[in-house]
Amino acid sequence: MPESGSDPLIRQTQLFIDGQWVPAQSGKTFDTINPSNEEVIARVAEGDADDVEHAVLAARRAFDEGPWARMDARDRGKIMHRFCDFIEAEIDELAAIESLDNGKPVKDARSVDIPLAIECIRYYAGWADKIQGSTIPVRGDFLCYTRREPVGVAGQIIPWNFPILMAAWKWGPALATGCTVVMKPAEQTPLTCLRLAYLAQQAGIPDGVINVVPGFGPTAGAAIVQHPGVDKIAFTGSGETAQHIIRQSAGTMKRLTLELGGKSPNIVFADADLESAAEGAHIGIHLNQGQCCCAGSRLFVEDSIHDSFVEKVVDLSRKRRVGDPFDPTTDQGPQVDRDQFEKIMSYIDKGKKDGAVCATGGQRVGDRGFFVEPTVFTEVRDEMAIAQDEIFGPVLSVLRFSDMEELVRRANATTYGLAAAVWTRDVSKAHILAKQLRAGTVWVNCYDVFDAAAPFGGFKQSGFGRELGQRGLDAYLEDKTVTVRLG
Ligand code: NAI
Ligand code: MG
Repeated sequence: MPESGSDPLIRQTQLFIDGQWVPAQSGKTFDTINPSNEEVIARVAEGDADDVEHAVLAARRAFDEGPWARMDARDRGKIMHRFCDFIEAEIDELAAIESLDNGKPVKDARSVDIPLAIECIRYYAGWADKIQGSTIPVRGDFLCYTRREPVGVAGQIIPWNFPILMAAWKWGPALATGCTVVMKPAEQTPLTCLRLAYLAQQAGIPDGVINVVPGFGPTAGAAIVQHPGVDKIAFTGSGETAQHIIRQSAGTMKRLTLELGGKSPNIVFADADLESAAEGAHIGIHLNQGQCCCAGSRLFVEDSIHDSFVEKVVDLSRKRRVGDPFDPTTDQGPQVDRDQFEKIMSYIDKGKKDGAVCATGGQRVGDRGFFVEPTVFTEVRDEMAIAQDEIFGPVLSVLRFSDMEELVRRANATTYGLAAAVWTRDVSKAHILAKQLRAGTVWVNCYDVFDAAAPFGGFKQSGFGRELGQRGLDAYLEDKTVTVRLG
């Protein structure tokens, strides 16, 4: 890996705390790498417990004494809309930085990630003045009502697969409800989050409301999770880290929302529109280099159409263009870093050793950057590692089914429960499965359809709480019951 040492072209970022750009107190930095060529993009100030302390105090003060939670909710909404105007004005630059840092095709960042992020913040801007309690008919001569108040300082820890979008999912409801934020972006992709903080300040979000502390999980992340001044943690990432967070937050009894991984079943019946199902199977696994928590990584295909359907899916995989994320014809860029790349390659090895058939792909692309061929395994059995574990890469496991009851049991036989999809023209079959599948989202005749208004989150070990939609506000609100004697 190249040294960032003395290269004058390498820029250095700072932490954003209390409206100021500051170096890490330790003076430490880390490099963020372009996964297409493994070169250093920038040196990033590395926050740790001391910087988190500073950020939490700022967020605490901004919440307890500042204008944000106290201002007319309509004005909060207006400032959030202005923030979105600023994001829109810089969409090309943001897409380029996102693509450079994460490896995703710039056209995807420009046309999917950032528009969805803007939609999310605008959606929650609209909620700012519509958050209301209720009047409750209690026994006796009392007026009883509830107020919905902001939970306080939110510690937000996000992953690297959708850096801008994950920041928007976290900031949208926090800002609308009047909370303040200490965010730790992923160490692989800190750059766009810092730029968003700059735009938020330009838009008029007061100092201390949003603080961004890039750094590593066990240092900066753990400090946020343990800090007594933080009221709530919102986390997206791996189950393993979520378990740490549950344990480490117990001492201060924090509210938690956890959005974790999946091994989502994508089920294709013989009576489906097979062209669009094949497209859905393809996008369901390969979108974002396979680095989606809701990836449709277990493709269940009805026996009677198995071979011809697999042919279609394999064909689409072979046509997928892997390469430079800045080339407008590229469909798939590199994996985010060496760790992810190696994890994926080791699962591909395991799949082969366990006796699955690698119908296409299975190799690295080139010898520089973390590119992996779109890969499809057939003849996969339920107990194989490639059918059980989240690979988080462009690796599809195809399984056969014939009996519907058995299918439901197999589809649900995982520790995860984030998403599922069903492809069929039979309306009742679709709704029966929508009911029986143990997942937070079920798509019928579509995949990866997201909307800021529709809640998203997991059953089982895919997490708890919901993001997006009206439900997404709940995680940032406390209910207060007020009872007044009238007589
Ligand atoms: P991770 O869960 O370790 O990292 C996600 C975030 O948590 C990062 O910001 C990281 O710095 C932070 N973190 C790590 N340890 C922490 C700790 N002890 N306390 C507080 N924060 C901590 O995920 P990682 O290591 O990047 O990826 C490993 C696997 O996790 C992936 O291969 C994939 O299977 C899964 N994953 C799932 C995601 C999802 O969207 N559900 C996103 C990213 C990863
Ligand atoms: Mg980790």
